[in-house]
Amino acid sequence: MKPTFIYSFSKCFVMDVKRIREDFPVLQNSKGIVYFDNACMSLKPRPVIQKMLEYYEQYTACVGRSNHRLGKLATEKYVEARKTIAKFVNARKEQEIVFTRNTTEGINLLANSLDLKKGDVVVSSDREHNSNLIPWQLVKERKGIEHRIVKSRTDNTFDLEAFKKSMSRQVKLVTMVWTSNIDGYTLPVREIVKTAHDFGAVVLLDGAQAVPHSKTDVRRLDVDFLAFSGHKMLGPTGTGILYGKYELLERLQPFVVGGDTVESTTYETHKFLKPPERFEAGLQDYAGIIGLGEAARYLENIGMENIESHEKALNKTISQRLLEIPNLQFVGVQASELRGGIISFNLKGMKYHDVSLMLDRNHGILIRSGQHCAHSWFNSHGIEGSARASLYLYNTQEEAELFAEAVKKISKLGK
Ligand SMILES: Cc1ncc(COP(=O)(O)O)c(C=O)c1O
Repeated sequence: MKPTFIYSFSKCFVMDVKRIREDFPVLQNSKGIVYFDNACMSLKPRPVIQKMLEYYEQYTACVGRSNHRLGKLATEKYVEARKTIAKFVNARKEQEIVFTRNTTEGINLLANSLDLKKGDVVVSSDREHNSNLIPWQLVKERKGIEHRIVKSRTDNTFDLEAFKKSMSRQVKLVTMVWTSNIDGYTLPVREIVKTAHDFGAVVLLDGAQAVPHSKTDVRRLDVDFLAFSGHKMLGPTGTGILYGKYELLERLQPFVVGGDTVESTTYETHKFLKPPERFEAGLQDYAGIIGLGEAARYLENIGMENIESHEKALNKTISQRLLEIPNLQFVGVQASELRGGIISFNLKGMKYHDVSLMLDRNHGILIRSGQHCAHSWFNSHGIEGSARASLYLYNTQEEAELFAEAVKKISKLGK
């Protein structure tokens, strides 16, 4: 792999974005596009694609089942991917990493596996993705738990005081988004985890928009469970992870069961394997998971701190330029320094879908528009939706300028 850093005048390494862009075939094949839809799906670098191809071309076989040479090689690579992911989030051991299909599946696994009973309380924020809302609504319907929502402050930031007031000994789980896909705002998760633990509750974080963009240290955070998606962190589609503290995983009942989850069965009984295998039923997406390990290695090589500050710098440029547009409103938290790599906005007098279509057709800039699977937040705020640009490591200052200029042009149509 060629170096992805250049030496700056301030004598510290900065990311060589030009060099990084060469690794992404979509950027080479679709010349002239500006890809600003990273909160939905990240692009994939060549090493990840090659790693998947490697599985299909060199060791296509069952993992953990066949003891022939290809089976052994595939198993080795699969185990290696789990170790890489464990290191990526600083887990205590690789057995704390459960492979899933995405964030949604990780959350559903917990919703169906935690021992929640009538009278127990689950607490969430008011800005959850549907994937961290509907599973708890179903648990409420099925088991009679209470699902408590903590309202944000009027400036859309997290209300720590309201959260503390919502806590009691009946709260068994606090499940919250770490970084919001609505506006890129990051919740004060360390305080949230600490408060929840003071009340004896466990914490699940939805890390779909956090883990790909900043350094994750589950031990430092002391979080109990963390769900995230591979496809948003340069990995293959249909790959995800549920991290869990091992002693908590051991207490969970598996949700999907069958082959690969048991040590043995009789016609009447079964003995489950230890975590994580007991949660990974049936034949898995081996190529995808091995590719995901490569994605984590790729990100690590560049440095998560570098990626985070790069996105913040781009967001600052964009947000400052967009502030000059009189009929533009930011959606959610206003301050760019609190919004990581996401810019959610509306142009007065224009539909967000039209803004997105014009950006694509007239300027080659790809963003997302709508309610971003957070309907509850938009409905409760009386906002129909938003146009959302989301950034990643391969985006450039030049693209940031182009985007701001394009939005300025489009905004004139709405007056
Ligand atoms: C904050 C957040 N949570 C959960 C999800 C669901 O992720 P997936 O579709 O990969 O399960 C997303 C997807 O955009 C998200 O942004």
